[in-house]
Amino acid sequence: MRYAAFIAKVPKQIIIQMSEPKNSSATRVRIAPVTKLSGDFQLPGDKSISHRSALFAAIGEGVSQLSNYSSARDCQSTLDCLEALGVRIRRGPELIVIEGAGLDGLREAARALDVGNSGSTIRMLSGILAGQNFTTEITGDESVRRRPMKRVIEPLTLMGARVESSEGGFAPLKIRGGNLKAIEYEPPVASAQVKSCALLAGLFADGVTTVIEKTPTRNHTEVMMRECGAAIEVTKTEAGERISVAGRNPLGALGRYTVAGDLSSASFFIVAALVVPDAELRLRHIGINPSRTALIDALKTIGARIEIENPRVEHGEPVADILARSSDLKGDLELSGPVIANLIDEIPILAIAGARTDGTLTIRDARELRVKESDRIRSIVDNLRRMGVEVEEFDDGLRLRGRQRLLGAQVDSFDDHRVAMSFGVAGLIAEGETEIVNADAASVSLPEFYRLLAASGANIE
Ligand code: S3P
Repeated sequence: MRYAAFIAKVPKQIIIQMSEPKNSSATRVRIAPVTKLSGDFQLPGDKSISHRSALFAAIGEGVSQLSNYSSARDCQSTLDCLEALGVRIRRGPELIVIEGAGLDGLREAARALDVGNSGSTIRMLSGILAGQNFTTEITGDESVRRRPMKRVIEPLTLMGARVESSEGGFAPLKIRGGNLKAIEYEPPVASAQVKSCALLAGLFADGVTTVIEKTPTRNHTEVMMRECGAAIEVTKTEAGERISVAGRNPLGALGRYTVAGDLSSASFFIVAALVVPDAELRLRHIGINPSRTALIDALKTIGARIEIENPRVEHGEPVADILARSSDLKGDLELSGPVIANLIDEIPILAIAGARTDGTLTIRDARELRVKESDRIRSIVDNLRRMGVEVEEFDDGLRLRGRQRLLGAQVDSFDDHRVAMSFGVAGLIAEGETEIVNADAASVSLPEFYRLLAASGANIE
């Protein structure tokens, strides 16, 4: 049965569960080319903001009611870990209710915490664990256990936590926290997760903790700290941004908090609308924090028809509706330097847009992609080549000429959600059918991806 027809009969809740089979390696999805897409919908809450909303709600005082909390498997992992630390959470279909335990209310977990595939959970939660007077073991799936953790071990150790890791600085981590002292810290990598880890630990430390950021990264932690009444100060200096937070001040609850739709998830639909010949997609209530919008700005420079409608600010976060339409993409796009941190998660889907412009797409200074959920430079290059696209691979990026034919082929998600979804979009404009192996990886950030694409007119089986 055609996926679109099949899912039309199944309630949404069940589809989300179905897309999480025990053995995700078995899932395959076939996508046929289309000439038309149309849709007008909302997306689940931003993954970055959802993680943070749960973490802050857990260590705040009072009850927080989170709506539009992300359905991403990663964000469920954050809730699982918090529950294991004694936080009371009620998960309804519309609302996640979290009873704040306060800064000192977490309790020792009975077993090791498992973050699944979520690098954000392990890195940010480690900051909170470093503030606890007990020991926690925290680990994740094979991909998380390959991801660099020295970047969080270093600041936490400097603050006085004892952190054991596997040889080379990998998870599992064993964190013995408590009695933290404030530090001034300049992370060696541009990473919002590392910044957030140090600032979260700073909430538990005596004194004022400062993170100095040379290259700006997403600032959702800073925005949310303000929402919870933390004593946070951000100043711009020649050396970069100085973000300071005073420790040991009780945090307020988030109260009723609606998470803005996920711009990184939206980017797959935005690019799909740009590259399919007759397409118009309107995505409602999407977070457009400027620390996340470089993809839109970059695409506009090559003629993308993307409009930002009804801009507003909610809970300190800019939000808008986004309209994307078929576009004649023209010109070269060369991205390197500080802008890379702003669109790091969007590079896989940008590569698909790059195959459509009449110029050349070049990405440099993106070595971080090598240590994401998969080695994303490798995953993108490998899959593009399988689709017959000529692409040059660099240690820190890639280059491809536009207006190349994409041939339907069997591609692999490499168990990476953003790779699965990017090649789902590539399948819409390929000649012939595209099959994605391990397609269910998409559930890590957007379990609804194939359903929404099918509802917009894609042929997915
Ligand atoms: C995230 C920060 C980025 C990003 C990830 C989410 C966050 O990671 O790639 O998907 O929520 O802070 P890094 O901090 O490792 O760059």
